Amino acid sequence: MSGSTRSTVRVGIVGAGGIATGAHLPALRAVNEQAGRQRAAVVGIADLDPARAASTAAEHGIPAHFPSAEELLAATRPDLLIVCTPPGAHRSAVVAGLAAGAWVWCEKPPMLSLEEYDDVARLEREGGPYASYVVQHRFGSAAQHLRDQMSSGRVGRPLVSVCHTLWYRGHDYYDVPWRGKWATEGGGPAMGHGIHQMDLYLDLMGEWTEVTAVADAQDRTVETEDTSLAIVRFESGALGSIVNTVLAPRETSYLRFDFTNGTVEVEHLYGYTNDHWRYTPSPHLPEDQRDAWLPQASTASSHAAQLGELLDSMDRGERPRASGADGRRTLEFIAALYQSAETGRPVRRSDLTASGPYYTGMHDPAVAYPTADSPQARDDRPGGPPDPAAEAAAAAAPTAAPTGADAAHLPDDTILETSRG
Ligand SMILES: NC(=O)c1ccc[n+]([C@@H]2O[C@H](COP(=O)([O-])OP(=O)(O)OC[C@H]3O[C@@H](n4cnc5c(N)ncnc54)[C@H](O)[C@@H]3O)[C@@H](O)[C@H]2O)c1
Repeated sequence: MSGSTRSTVRVGIVGAGGIATGAHLPALRAVNEQAGRQRAAVVGIADLDPARAASTAAEHGIPAHFPSAEELLAATRPDLLIVCTPPGAHRSAVVAGLAAGAWVWCEKPPMLSLEEYDDVARLEREGGPYASYVVQHRFGSAAQHLRDQMSSGRVGRPLVSVCHTLWYRGHDYYDVPWRGKWATEGGGPAMGHGIHQMDLYLDLMGEWTEVTAVADAQDRTVETEDTSLAIVRFESGALGSIVNTVLAPRETSYLRFDFTNGTVEVEHLYGYTNDHWRYTPSPHLPEDQRDAWLPQASTASSHAAQLGELLDSMDRGERPRASGADGRRTLEFIAALYQSAETGRPVRRSDLTASGPYYTGMHDPAVAYPTADSPQARDDRPGGPPDPAAEAAAAAAPTAAPTGADAAHLPDDTILETSRG
């Protein structure tokens, strides 16, 4: 699919649920309208539930429907497969798509683990097909403008940052069997909800080096967390604070960046336009540098904005954004967030190796998340509070604070304990 700048991209969709009908089919219509021609045409849709596949096909004028991704791919040979299945079924559909030679655009979260992500990425070929992932908030014009302002140095150095996903999902939301479970959703709101803001945030802030997190299940009946908080250090020296929850009745998605030359904020819920962004210049800036910050272009963050860019990449036979290392960054961060929350220790990015404990999954099955009913689970974790009896015994024993080579062999927390004043 390279070089064919005017041909119609033949699209297959797997998973005919809420996001397929509510976001992807409208996005396909929008890119066609914007191009003034049939840039992409849906040639078939698949769903495990044949009645749903049939009714969606009838309602949206899709010529064929199938009970599986494999049958859709074999019968229609699409150029692009859009994967809208629940997270636990992403991998098989993406693998089937790439194996059939189709480019793939898969819903978030990309995969259930870094191992799955890497296995899938190995099926890509130079020039395509590539697997890319839905991260629609990166693609609004205001985010692109801020990216440009950061690389030109106009806003100065990033110092402090905030990334909040304060959303509300009631108890009934978790009646859907795949939600709230490690095996099928891959995680709680860090993986399923906050991933949107965190992806935009990390895309703008650049490489992170260390994360320290806590996560609990405070009010929903889930295996995973329903809330997580994290502190992050960036290579640039900037610091950040992240909250992901589904327990917030006044919902908001809020990102804030304090640079040496000003503060940039966006507050929205499920998508932003330029109007959701605000710029406050630093008091030291001269009058002629305090002008309005917003971009000339006005593109809302949306599936359509990302799809337009993906189709451009297909036209050129080039790796799209949000694939490969660029699509992996947020999943790495989430793996580190869970590792820190479950072990009670900071996690450095360099700890996330293929032999590391959170490479094959986001969760250690031996860890139960603290809930309102069993807050003691927190203390059972490897990094939980020390055993008071062991502490008393240690205090009674004659000890000297380890120094030099001895100290270097002890875990970080031991050194901290012994150097406490
Ligand atoms: N980007 C966003 O803003 C956004 C918003 C909501 C959901 N999502 C993501 O979209 C995906 C789907 O969510 P949804 O809300 O549409 O779920 P849904 O339950 O409404 O729809 C999923 C559909 O997939 C079908 N399905 C399940 N396994 C399948 C398989 N192996 N093969 C074929 N079909 C299969 C189900 O029968 C169902 O019809 C999830 O990954 C979710 O995280 C993204």
